[in-house]
Amino acid sequence: MPTIHYILQDGSTRAIDAKAGTSVMENAIRGNVRGIDAECGGSCACATCHVYVDDAFFALLPPPDDMEREMLEVVAAERRPTSRLGCQITVTAALDGLTVRVPDTQS
Ligand code: FES
Repeated sequence: MPTIHYILQDGSTRAIDAKAGTSVMENAIRGNVRGIDAECGGSCACATCHVYVDDAFFALLPPPDDMEREMLEVVAAERRPTSRLGCQITVTAALDGLTVRVPDTQS
């Protein structure tokens, strides 16, 4: 089972065992990770699942599609080069150890 590490707003880290095929957002919600709001439930329509992906993993991710790129334009916190939407990152075995940082705000 791949493990995802979430760095929270207070600097602490939560490790969640994720099922391959689920999203970074879904695992955050299941694990009650504070700071991932996911108001639209994963339909790429709210941008409240914004995360900063660790540099080491960023290049392993497929690039965002047009819809995700549009939503990344309206994230509440600072948008960074490694910004992605958690609902659009599908967990695979290759992403074991994936580390994402939760931004300061989602709204
Ligand atoms: S959960 Fe709404 S855009 Fe990801």
